[in-house]
Amino acid sequence: MSPLTTAPPTIASVDLSALTSNLRQARRLLSPGCDILAVVKADAYGHGSVAVTEALAREGVTRFAVATIQEGAQLRDAGIQAQILVMGALPPAQLADLLGYDLTPVIYEPTIAVALAARLGAGSNPYPVHLKVDTGMGRLGLPPDQVLPLLQSPAFQSSLRLEGLMTHLADADNADPAYTKIQIERFQAVLAGLHKAGLSVPLIHAANSAAMLGHPAAHFNLVRPGIMLYGYSTALQRGPAATLKPVLSLRSQVAQVRNLEKGDSASYNRSFIARRSTKIAVLPIGYADGYSRALSNRGYVLVQGQRCPVVGRVCMDMTLLDVTDLPVVRPGDEAVLIGRQGTDAILASDVAAWSGTIPYEVLCGIGPRVPRVYS
Ligand SMILES: Cc1ncc(COP(=O)(O)O)c(C=O)c1O
Repeated sequence: MSPLTTAPPTIASVDLSALTSNLRQARRLLSPGCDILAVVKADAYGHGSVAVTEALAREGVTRFAVATIQEGAQLRDAGIQAQILVMGALPPAQLADLLGYDLTPVIYEPTIAVALAARLGAGSNPYPVHLKVDTGMGRLGLPPDQVLPLLQSPAFQSSLRLEGLMTHLADADNADPAYTKIQIERFQAVLAGLHKAGLSVPLIHAANSAAMLGHPAAHFNLVRPGIMLYGYSTALQRGPAATLKPVLSLRSQVAQVRNLEKGDSASYNRSFIARRSTKIAVLPIGYADGYSRALSNRGYVLVQGQRCPVVGRVCMDMTLLDVTDLPVVRPGDEAVLIGRQGTDAILASDVAAWSGTIPYEVLCGIGPRVPRVYS
């Protein structure tokens, strides 16, 4: 069978120059000696992890973070040689793959250190690992008082080498910095304990994008930006605001234009009834592509530079727009669900607000059926 020769109507365009511009903005927030660990988990927040990692590596980023061993393996299979940190769950059955793919684990539980050390055996070069301490996120992590005992346990005498200590902040985008300050203090207390015991920690990291923008005390010598690289921020941007550029646009094309009479309904369960003679544009994108069903009768899409309301239920493969107020709409006309058209732009944060979520979920939710096209 011959390969496809044409692009489908619904695509996600990924602007790699916006990505590298955001990286430059992120770097401007850092003191000398503080480096970037770029978070490319969840397929680089839906942007395509291989292309994003390659683009950031060309700009000098040498460390990347993913959530799963599979995500790390995908980057290695694509030829990425930079350090890849696995920040999520480490099922014991997958530790062989972790080592086989030369991925760096974040240990959050003593039994993982023991299992990893047993697999490595003594005699080999100690394997670099990071430890995660839970200072108040309440999910993966060692309680602060377990860090030193683990580092003094047999696993760290021969097989494992502490390369990094990390924590994760639960509330860094809150206007009230109180909880973040408490977490930073708890983290600093752990570091002081290690220092007192004569242990050195080469890499120390705590800050996500919001903390990079709002909490310089959380920068230490490595920061973990995710969302800001993709052009969004949930932070309050105390201090100099970074000028971020959204990296991804989601575009489709009108498949058909239908005329409804007053009183006619559109889509499942008849949640839209035409109050007047209505022109409907059918778009070939639906919730299977990541355009949430929560946008039914709530979202907007740009056609000819105008915001047109989503009407009726968003279906698995189709979404309907009311384009009655546009003079002429034809099949093939461009529809912009996220991105700029004419003088207007719809941001992932707009789509998130309409659908009751955050831009992260909107971006990660764009499905594998939508090709990513890079420029
Ligand atoms: C452990 C960890 N660090 C850093 C990040 C990046 O966060 P953000 O995208 O808010 O910058 C995440 C994302 O969820 C994370 O789980």
